[in-house]
Amino acid sequence: MPSTTSSSAKPVRKAVIPAAGLGTRFLPFSKAVPKEMLPVVDRPVIQYVIEEAVDAGIDDILIVTSRHKKVIEDHFDRLQELEDQLEAKGKDAEAEQVRALSKLAQLHYVRQGEALGLGHAIGTARNHVGEEPFVVLLGDDIMRPEAGVVRGMIEAYNEHRCSVVALMEVPHDEISSYGCASVTEVGDRLVQVTGLVEKPAPEDAPSNLAVMGRYLFTPSIFDEIEATEPGVGGEIQITDAMESLLEKERMLGFTFGEGRFDTGKKLDYLRAVVEMALEREDLGAGFRDILAEIVDRENIGNRS
Ligand code: G1P
Repeated sequence: MPSTTSSSAKPVRKAVIPAAGLGTRFLPFSKAVPKEMLPVVDRPVIQYVIEEAVDAGIDDILIVTSRHKKVIEDHFDRLQELEDQLEAKGKDAEAEQVRALSKLAQLHYVRQGEALGLGHAIGTARNHVGEEPFVVLLGDDIMRPEAGVVRGMIEAYNEHRCSVVALMEVPHDEISSYGCASVTEVGDRLVQVTGLVEKPAPEDAPSNLAVMGRYLFTPSIFDEIEATEPGVGGEIQITDAMESLLEKERMLGFTFGEGRFDTGKKLDYLRAVVEMALEREDLGAGFRDILAEIVDRENIGNRS
């Protein structure tokens, strides 16, 4: 049984964002532009994900990319020319907005050379993460800050010193789109994970609790990933590596009910754009009027 004593006293300060996938659900858009760069109002999806990590106290973020994802690096890099031009025009606020992107956190990049699955993508972070606990945030899931998911998971880790996975109840017929956990109750929002299975058929699912794009791992997960054979879809699944980790270490589930947008799905992406736009001080009122006008028009159209 691997010891976690050396890592267990360390605080969680690193995060890994897997963003190497092909994004087939968003073709043709994702042919040349990574799906993580889809705009939600005026920020790309991945910026919300990074801001969530930073907000939870993480300052070191490794993004796992692939060949066609260079634009992600460009977005968070300095662009002196643009800053100078904006400043020369007196647009200081805009220049500061551009500059702030490069100061969000210490960002690092590693490439996943082959598309061998989420588990494999997380495994590419091993050298960077070392012997520390770390958080994984899937690059196309946006969590509302109020849901406090990563923050709550880090608090749970600080108290219990074990891996923690975000779980949300989904309708039974949707469980086959997710990793699924069997659990026993522990406390308020925390449950003890007793088993995990990737994308089960609804009749085989041990529960309706779905794994939701946020994980906190002890570094022992890396040995399990290396020992994991390809599973569902022929890919190295993180869920399978977690199932093996369970035989050696305790794992908790952090349950939450709302506040997640899966921007990899078109309808959820559209909902994210609409909700976030409505909440913006500078756009909300105007956008509400436009939506009301569209809804009225649709209603009239339906009646005639
Ligand atoms: C991945 C994971 C799955 C998890 C899901 C959350 O699946 O493999 O366990 O429930 O993310 O969004 P994907 O959505 O990449 O198919």
